[in-house]
Amino acid sequence: YWGLPTEWLGKQIEHYQMIDSTQTLALKRAQEGCEQGLVIISDKQTAGKGRRMREWDSNNDDGIWLSFVLRPNLIPAQAPQLTLLTATVLVKVIEAITELKPKIKWPNDLLIDQKKVAGILTQAQGEHDHIHYAVIGIGLNVNQINFQLTEMQTYQATSLKIETNQTFSKTELIQLFLSHFESLYQIYLTEGFAPIKQKWLESAYRLGEQLCFKVNGVEKTGIFVDLSDDGCLIVEDDQQKREKLYSADINWF
Ligand code: BTN
Repeated sequence: YWGLPTEWLGKQIEHYQMIDSTQTLALKRAQEGCEQGLVIISDKQTAGKGRRMREWDSNNDDGIWLSFVLRPNLIPAQAPQLTLLTATVLVKVIEAITELKPKIKWPNDLLIDQKKVAGILTQAQGEHDHIHYAVIGIGLNVNQINFQLTEMQTYQATSLKIETNQTFSKTELIQLFLSHFESLYQIYLTEGFAPIKQKWLESAYRLGEQLCFKVNGVEKTGIFVDLSDDGCLIVEDDQQKREKLYSADINWF
């Protein structure tokens, strides 16, 4: 019933009404040796996971909670590129069905009007110089009309419905996501990261603006000028000195 136009992504789909986390199950399937392209979807998750061990509020069937398995021929240092690629795919999907212009907050959040509409969780396992598998999880808020603010939460959330007053078909969004992902991933494998980076920069949150960040405990400011090929943010200080940043260091607000 998914009617997917894809060649390999989602050829095999496991769809549950309720499990703890699609990510946990997809990681297990990957370890067991499943094929590339396996997609796990759950209507609700009882223990959705965010980055850095945070919880992900998904014990409702108003959002898309899915994880999928890739077996790319990449080195482990390229894994962050998969997150950036996924973010550009989500932007494309949202732009295809709404007038919204989502922003990608580096590295893995999608924002609409400063509020989080989607998050991405990439977990890769390396073997020698190779990624053995990568599991990408996406949480996209679709038809929620309100969110419970938890103590842990450091951001405000929104959904496509809150932003547009429309209700969306989750099945259609999943189809769009998987087919856009497969085609952009193909471009990535043949042409490299450059075309992905270009699309990513078009939707980057606060590109060209001043950011506050910490390097080795020292607070600094700099203009967010670019993205590096290994997926770091590049900032430039007032002496035009450039520096690469890793995620933990930035204060976005
Ligand atoms: C984040 O913003 O911290 C990432 C959130 C990722 C949530 C998705 S929902 C589907 C998949 N299963 C999980 O348990 N987490 C990811």
